Amino acid sequence: MTEPTIENLLREGRTFPPPEDFAARATIPDEGVYQQAEDDWQGWWVSHAERLRWLRPWDTVLEWDAPHAKWFTGGQLNVSDNCLDRHVDEGHGDQVAYHWEGEDGSRRTLTYRDLLEETCRFANALKSLGVGKGDRVAIYLPMIPELPVAMLACARIGAIHSVVFAGFSAQSLVDRIDDADAQVVITADGAYRKGNVIPLKANADTAMADTHRVRTCVVVRRTGEDVVLRDERDHWYHDVVEGQSTECPPEPMHAEDVLYILYTSGTTGKPKGIVHTTGGYLTQVAATHRMVFDLKPDTDVYWCAADIGWVTGHSYIVYGPLANRTTSVLYEGAPDHPARDRFWSIVEDYGVTILYTAPTAIRTFMKWGPDLPGAHDLSSLRLLGSVGEPINPEAWVWYHQYIGGGRCPVVDTWWQTETGAIMISPLPGITTLKPGSAMRPLPGIKAVVVDQAGDPVPPGGGGYLTLQRPWPSMLRTIWGDDDRYVSTYWSRFGNEVYFAGDGAKLDDDGHVWLLGRVDDVMNVSGHRISTTEVESALVDHHAVAEAAVTGRSDAMTGQAIAAFVSLKGDRQGDEALAAELREHVANRIGKIARPANILFTDDLPKTRSGKIMRRLLRDIAEGRELGDVTTLANADIVSQIQARSTAAAASE
Ligand code: WTA
Repeated sequence: MTEPTIENLLREGRTFPPPEDFAARATIPDEGVYQQAEDDWQGWWVSHAERLRWLRPWDTVLEWDAPHAKWFTGGQLNVSDNCLDRHVDEGHGDQVAYHWEGEDGSRRTLTYRDLLEETCRFANALKSLGVGKGDRVAIYLPMIPELPVAMLACARIGAIHSVVFAGFSAQSLVDRIDDADAQVVITADGAYRKGNVIPLKANADTAMADTHRVRTCVVVRRTGEDVVLRDERDHWYHDVVEGQSTECPPEPMHAEDVLYILYTSGTTGKPKGIVHTTGGYLTQVAATHRMVFDLKPDTDVYWCAADIGWVTGHSYIVYGPLANRTTSVLYEGAPDHPARDRFWSIVEDYGVTILYTAPTAIRTFMKWGPDLPGAHDLSSLRLLGSVGEPINPEAWVWYHQYIGGGRCPVVDTWWQTETGAIMISPLPGITTLKPGSAMRPLPGIKAVVVDQAGDPVPPGGGGYLTLQRPWPSMLRTIWGDDDRYVSTYWSRFGNEVYFAGDGAKLDDDGHVWLLGRVDDVMNVSGHRISTTEVESALVDHHAVAEAAVTGRSDAMTGQAIAAFVSLKGDRQGDEALAAELREHVANRIGKIARPANILFTDDLPKTRSGKIMRRLLRDIAEGRELGDVTTLANADIVSQIQARSTAAAASE
C-alpha cells in the first residue's frame, strides 16, 4: 500500500441526506448520471453541448495532444447569442436576467430583451471605435450592469475580454494591459465600496500613462466623479451608445476561439493570463450551473455574491446563468453597507432561492452572529453553495442552520480559474452531504488524489489533487507563455495529469476533502499536516469565528504550528482561552496538531477574493520582513497582528 502524503486527522461524522421534497423535484434525480458519464465521458459532454445553439456543428468532439486540448473543433457558435438571443427567440424576452442593486440602494431591472439590446448597442459602439475580432479589451468596472454588457458585447463581436477586478491598483491594470496587449480599456468614473468612492478613471489614467498601448477608453458614468477625458482616446459610454442600433449580428466564432483571458496571481512571479475558449467553456459552465444548482429557470431567483472580477463571477454570474436563462441578483457592494444585514435584506427583498458565496463570507457572518439573518425572512432559500476555500465543517453547519433554516442542501464546489467550471461537488438532489467535503467529482470528471509518486492514495489517505482526463472548460494555455502552462500544471506527474496545487484526502467512503494549497501544508516532527484541518478544529470551538494556522521553524520539531484566531462577537482572547483552544485541537484531532501558540486578532489578512494569506502570517510568525501588503483587502490588520506577535514573543 502507498504511503499517504498528508495526514488524515479530522474526522467528521455528520451526514445530511437530500430533503425528500427537494429530491423529488431535482433536476438530476438519480445516480445514473455517474455511470452514464463513465461509460462514455465524451458523449456525456456532447449531450450538454447539444443543449446550446450551434451555428455550425462540430466535426470532432476532442483533440487531445497532451497537455493541449481542443473541444468541438469545426463547430461554430456565439456565446452572446446563446446567452441572449436564444432566449428572446424562444419567447422569454420579458424574463428578468438581472435584478441589479447598487450599494447606494439604486435599482435596475434588466430583462433578457433589455440585456440583448444594450449588448447590441455597445457591440456596435465598440465596432465603430474600431474594435474587432481577436482584439483584447481590458474591462475595469465595478459590479454594475455595464460590466456583463461589456463582456457580452466583446463576445458578440469576437473581441477577447480581460476583466480586471475594480479593487485592483493602477499597477495591476498596467501589468494586465501590457501582458495581453490590450488597446482598449472600459472603465467607470468611480466605484462605490463601503460608502466610499474608488476613483476608477483616475486609476485607469495612471495606468494608461504608464503604457503606450491604449488607444481607446470608454467611461461609464456611475458615481459622478470629476474625470478628465482626453481627446481622441476617451469617450463616455452614454455618448458612444447613443443612436446605435439595437441589432448587431453575432459573429460566428470557432469553438476554440478565445473568449477571455483572466489573470490569476500565482504564489510567485507575475500573474498568469488564463485562457478560456468558446464552445467547451460554455458547455461546461452551463451544464454545471444547471446540475449543481438544480436550476429551475422559470421560478428560481439565483444570487452568486462573488465579484465578476473573479472567475466565479465570469462563470456563475455571467456565462453559466445567462446560458441557462436564469433570473439573477447582481449586487454592487459590500455585505456590511449600510449595515451587517445587507445580504439578508437582499435575499428577503428579491425572494432569492439559491445563494452562492464563499467560506470567508460565511465565517464573517458567524462572527457577526445569527441574530442578523434571524431578523429576516429567508424562507425563499432552497439551496446554498460555497466556493473559494475549504469550508470548515462548523461554518458549513452554521450556514446550513442559520441561513438555510436546516432545509437547504449546501453544495461545496471545488474548482479554479484554470478549470473554468465546477469540477468536484455534490449533486443536491442525490448526494448525502458531509459538512466540509466537496464529496465527489462531477459526472465526466476524473479527479484522483495521488501520493508523491503519483499513485492513487487509498480511502483514508491524503495527497495531491490531480485531474486525469481533459474537460471542456479547461484552460487552453497561459496567454503568451505556453511553456509556463506546461511546467506549472502538466509536469509534476507527466503531461497527461493536471496538477491542481491543492492537497486533498479521501475518507473511508472515498469522498473528497480539500486540504488547502500544498504550499501551506506544515511539517511537524515528520508529519505532514494540512492547515485546513487544524483551522477546522479551531473553528469547531464555540468561541471561534475564524482561524488561520501556519508552520514556523522550530528547533525541536522542524516546524511548529502558529495559530491566529478571531473570536465571535466582541469576545476578547486571553491566556486561559488560548490554553483551552490548544487542548480542544489536541482532543479533536490529536496532540501532534496542537498549536504551539495562539494569537488573537480582530481579523485575518485576506486577498481581495477573500482567501486567507497564510504566507504573510508565516512571515509574521517567523519574525521576517514583510513584502508588499497593499494587495490585501484589509492591509491595516497586518500591523495589529505584527504588534501583538512582537509583544507575545517578548513576553515568552
Ligand atoms: C481553492 C475559485 C476547497 C483551491 C473558483 C483552489 C477551494 C483555489 C474550493 C482556486 C473548495 C476553491 N474547497 N478549496 N470548494 N474552491 N478552492 O482560481 O485552493 O480563485 O485551487 O478559483 O481556491 O481559486 P480561484
